[in-house]
Amino acid sequence: MQSLTIVTPDDWHLHFRDNEMLAETVPATARCFQRAIVMPNLVPPVVNAEMAMAYKSRIEAARPEGSTFEPLMTLFLTNTTTPQDIVDAKTAGVTACKLYPAGATTNSDAAVKGIKALYPVFQAMQEQGLLLLIHGEVTEHHIDIFDREKAFIDTHLSHIVDAFPDLKVVFEHITTADAAEFVSGANDKVGATITPQHLLLNRNDLLVGGVRPHNYCLPVLKRNTHQKALQDMVASGNPKFFLGTDSAPHAKHKKENACGCAGCYSAWSAIELYAEIFDQLGVIDKLEGFASLYGPDFYGLPRNTTTTTLIKEPWQVPDQVTLADGTDMVPFYAGQTLQWKLESAFQNA
Ligand code: DOR
Ligand code: ZN
Repeated sequence: MQSLTIVTPDDWHLHFRDNEMLAETVPATARCFQRAIVMPNLVPPVVNAEMAMAYKSRIEAARPEGSTFEPLMTLFLTNTTTPQDIVDAKTAGVTACKLYPAGATTNSDAAVKGIKALYPVFQAMQEQGLLLLIHGEVTEHHIDIFDREKAFIDTHLSHIVDAFPDLKVVFEHITTADAAEFVSGANDKVGATITPQHLLLNRNDLLVGGVRPHNYCLPVLKRNTHQKALQDMVASGNPKFFLGTDSAPHAKHKKENACGCAGCYSAWSAIELYAEIFDQLGVIDKLEGFASLYGPDFYGLPRNTTTTTLIKEPWQVPDQVTLADGTDMVPFYAGQTLQWKLESAFQNA
């Protein structure tokens, strides 16, 4: 197949950051996605409806001329979030809330220390129809980093899902066979996003031949058997699994650092990276469901009405991008050749 036309995709998990960075990150995502679920881990985090709506306006102001890109906003849950915050968020048009166990990742120090204490908030979310988006890793020091996702399922996630059978839960950026199995076996209110890096790479790509900081993200890349389980899941066309890039920009000097930060900035090649892996797996026909249909279906939102065309034509991901203030960033897959290229987006069907 040399050309593929699909319903225009959405990104169900990404990080735009804020202020000047939006001039870089918003056009990159609006290039090929109609909507995106915007993560709230700013400094300070987006913890209420007012902050979410102000952030939404800043994102909208950074859209390229003529773009109809729609940011879908989220709240960052803390141990001081109240059920009233959830009611207010729903009224304001917030879509979902993000649960980060405290310390799990970038800018999550303010996050949740006692998950059980948040059950009244989950109850309000279930009643209001807000989705619960979960960074599913425990943070206890003695738990090995490669086991943290599995431990989270056993310690927390299975209990949340049992206690709130009508709450829609997205297990974000899953990385293990354990997570894939849990989600596929759970009720139909439980779904998962999968990133391009967790489909394309495994921990060898992080550690063999030298540490590769631009492949470092959280949850960390796992062994190839887990990568294979994720690939098998998307190849099966299971509608519980959909596209969420977790595109997460960081300055080059903060990644290439003695304590490098976590995140892969994939927005400039996002849909193309997914096309690459689906094609390698021999299931390019499954890309549309994963990228464009299962996400809105799960969220209870309409599918996009325009189409997007990819063509098979090699191109190279840039080595770096430079922000207006001179800060360099290294995109995910920098300098590498991809076989699928975005030809045109947002075509009227
Ligand atoms: O690698 C990651 N980067 N994982 C996350 O959960 C957060 C993200 C970020 O904000 O940089
Ligand atoms: Zn994320």
